[in-house]
Amino acid sequence: MTNIAEHVPVIRNLTRHVGVSDMVTTLHTDIHVLDAPPLHDAAVALESSGYMDRDRLFRAVAASLRPEGWFGIEEHFLVDASWGPFIDDYYKTHLGTVSEYTRAAEAAGFVLEHDEEPWSQPAPHPAPAHTACRPAR
Ligand SMILES: C[S@@+](CC[C@H](N)C(=O)[O-])C[C@H]1O[C@@H](n2cnc3c(N)ncnc32)[C@H](O)[C@@H]1O
Repeated sequence: MTNIAEHVPVIRNLTRHVGVSDMVTTLHTDIHVLDAPPLHDAAVALESSGYMDRDRLFRAVAASLRPEGWFGIEEHFLVDASWGPFIDDYYKTHLGTVSEYTRAAEAAGFVLEHDEEPWSQPAPHPAPAHTACRPAR
């Protein structure tokens, strides 16, 4: 899924090139208005959630997952929120802290299952981390 129309032919070329085009459906839409049925086993957002409204993101994904489905996120999370405006201005993002994500995820019915931060020492700047959550039973 991408909200950038120009990405669609690029994705189709790539999937054709590596022989998986029959396994990949490309969807041009905005996650904020996604209305997908609850048929999906898993969703993943790789360095894209930082551009999105987290409340709407988690609500849309929760509505698209089966009851035991998973949502995995890899993102740069703010450690010191005071860095937000500087980084967001450069990347045109809307980065958040892990706790901001967790609040939005819980509000949409998710439970945090796994939170991995590869940095051994907390960094003051946004640090990449992996989180995974599933809808609460
Ligand atoms: C930094 S790129 C990451 C692309 C890819 N996930 C990767 O890891 O190479 C951020 C991507 O987020 C996606 N994105 C941002 N806002 C979006 C939205 N509102 N709805 C759907 N996709 C969005 C766009 O496809 C954009 O290319």
